[in-house]
Amino acid sequence: MQLARTLETLRKTVAELKSDGGTLALVPTMGALHDGHMALVARAREVADHVAASIFVNPTQFGEGEDLDAYPRSENEDCENLEAAGCELVWIPPSPEVYPAGFSTTVRVEGVSGGLCGEARPGHFDGVATVVAKLFNQILPDVALFGEKDYQQLAVIRRMARDLDFTLDIVGVPTVREADGLALSSRNAYLSDDERQRAVALPNALREAGETIIGGGDVGTALDAAGAKLEAAGFAPIDYIELRDADSLAPLDRLESPARLLAAAKIGRTRLIDNIAVDPD
Ligand code: PAJ
Repeated sequence: MQLARTLETLRKTVAELKSDGGTLALVPTMGALHDGHMALVARAREVADHVAASIFVNPTQFGEGEDLDAYPRSENEDCENLEAAGCELVWIPPSPEVYPAGFSTTVRVEGVSGGLCGEARPGHFDGVATVVAKLFNQILPDVALFGEKDYQQLAVIRRMARDLDFTLDIVGVPTVREADGLALSSRNAYLSDDERQRAVALPNALREAGETIIGGGDVGTALDAAGAKLEAAGFAPIDYIELRDADSLAPLDRLESPARLLAAAKIGRTRLIDNIAVDPD
């Protein structure tokens, strides 16, 4: 596996990889890789001839008081895992290679970035869209893979790619979960043993509310019950629990199209997010 830390090395290595005419997939990450990230790499190998990954803890998507400095970092282990999984190139840029002096451009995707995490984390999706647009231009992949775990992020990136004519495919990969249902996340490492046990209320509350809604139950009542379940497990505050259209992310108060039930809430000092599909029969 080639490791690039400068744009010059990156461009050279990408050109070498593509010289056989094969397709290139990109898996963007912030490192601290777990089985969720590795599922993206595995899927990437299925959809493209070559796989590149990036590891960059992107400062512009962290708000004030968020965990940028404390964000877990495990570069050596990440590289070993990527290489073992068949990744051929990893791009680990120092910040100035991504944000040169005088950097003044922001990509803002309106609409799908509104509400949900966009409201709870102002500016977050501007940072995500900007860095992902840059990664697309730096690596020029044929396909890029993102997890459904961050469903609003996936929707923002799909919208951006369509709007800005990025000629690549965006592939969404289902959420990888622990045996008890908790979605894998780098932030799970912050949970105490007790918080970790209680955190399973998040996927459970979503699953139960989803079953109620699919069974014809009232959406508002189902969401209230999910909120009560999270509160009982010690989640506070609850940023949101909402039913949204699966494509446009428009709010829904009745199940009439393929939908997504999304939630974000804090347990102790750790903010967890999760979402599930809720499809009408
Ligand atoms: P990061 O949180 O490192 O996640 C990288 C990718 O892994 C994202 O597409 C995310 O949705 C996916 N992922 C995380 N946990 C997952 C799980 N349990 N199952 C499936 N996929 C999972 O998301 C980011 O980084 C950044 O915002 C980034 C897109 C790299 C831009 O900086």
